[in-house]
Amino acid sequence: MLKIAVIGGDGTGPEVVREGLKVLKEVAAKENFQYTTTDYDLSGKAYLARGGDPNKQNIPIVTDEQIAELRKYDAIYLGAVGDPDIVPGILELGLLLRLRFELDQYINLRPVKLYPGVETPLRDKGPEHINFDVVRENTEDLYFGGGGFLRKNTPNEVATQEMIATRFGVERCLRYAFEFCRKKNQKRMLTLVAKRNVLTYAHDLWWRAFNEIGDRDYPDIKRDYNHVDACCMWFVKNPEFYDTIVVSNMFGDIITDLGAMIQGGMGVAAGGNINPQGVSMFEPIGGSAPKYTGMNVINPIAAIAALAMLLRVVGAQKGDAAVERAGNRVEKAIMATCPKMKSQSAGKMGYSTTQVGDLVCQAL
Ligand code: IPM
Ligand code: MG
Repeated sequence: MLKIAVIGGDGTGPEVVREGLKVLKEVAAKENFQYTTTDYDLSGKAYLARGGDPNKQNIPIVTDEQIAELRKYDAIYLGAVGDPDIVPGILELGLLLRLRFELDQYINLRPVKLYPGVETPLRDKGPEHINFDVVRENTEDLYFGGGGFLRKNTPNEVATQEMIATRFGVERCLRYAFEFCRKKNQKRMLTLVAKRNVLTYAHDLWWRAFNEIGDRDYPDIKRDYNHVDACCMWFVKNPEFYDTIVVSNMFGDIITDLGAMIQGGMGVAAGGNINPQGVSMFEPIGGSAPKYTGMNVINPIAAIAALAMLLRVVGAQKGDAAVERAGNRVEKAIMATCPKMKSQSAGKMGYSTTQVGDLVCQAL
């Protein structure tokens, strides 16, 4: 029995998650596995309704009790986070980052895969050129929240924001990336993306750990290195060069938005916040698109791709072949559906959100 917690979240999140759940129902019947879903309303609107302050977090967005409950699921399926009535950062920190940290989802896995029939802004590039994976560290770096103000709101104000790299955190991420690359067995090449010409402490640690672990345990995986700025250039110029990328949190955040664009945009890009020993959370990586809320025009493909990833990752983790097969089946159905759509952009798909969900169900 697969137990899934569902957090529709804000804006169009619930609409796209609904399509994912429709696909889940169909594929579970076809692959013959049982599952349950439990809804959690952790939206910004719910926070405000409970007396939450839109300008400064005054009550928990997700409570300790809810987090304890969430630990008991096999996976979390998340729609979107972000409400225009709440100051940016409150929900992101109080919900998304909090869950990533509390559940120790130390990997953020973001496939950059151009599906057939999806338009990329890169001229002369097709699905055969854009097909790689980014393994982003998800718990350290600039994201851990260290820093502070001195003389705040005075002309002599100082603000610091600290970056950390721990040997433990870096190694577990590198190992995941090496294993992932080996298992995928594509080009068997792992690219470390960093900035070791400037970040001579934190990224020196990454560089040494990368080479030590690679030499010792992964001699069969070719090691490659890019400075992050050069990597942005290569994403646009020669994306076919990559197989698997491993990257620290902040740079990973940035390059995966670029990755999402070359694979056809936020309407198709999905990601997983993975704790290989615990509960992982899967999400379309686009935002909550408030201006499209309730219009049934947003592209649910990214959310359905997040569901496919959930099934593949959790199926493999639990050793449940039917669930893993279901994930592959959903991805194939997505690939059969995309060419039927006019575009991947909201309102221009030639179909409504619900109709795209139906098309994927039919293609299963
Ligand atoms: C992402 C997002 C988040 C991040 C924000 C919403 C906190 O941009 O998932 O990439 O920075 O990780
Ligand atoms: Mg981001």
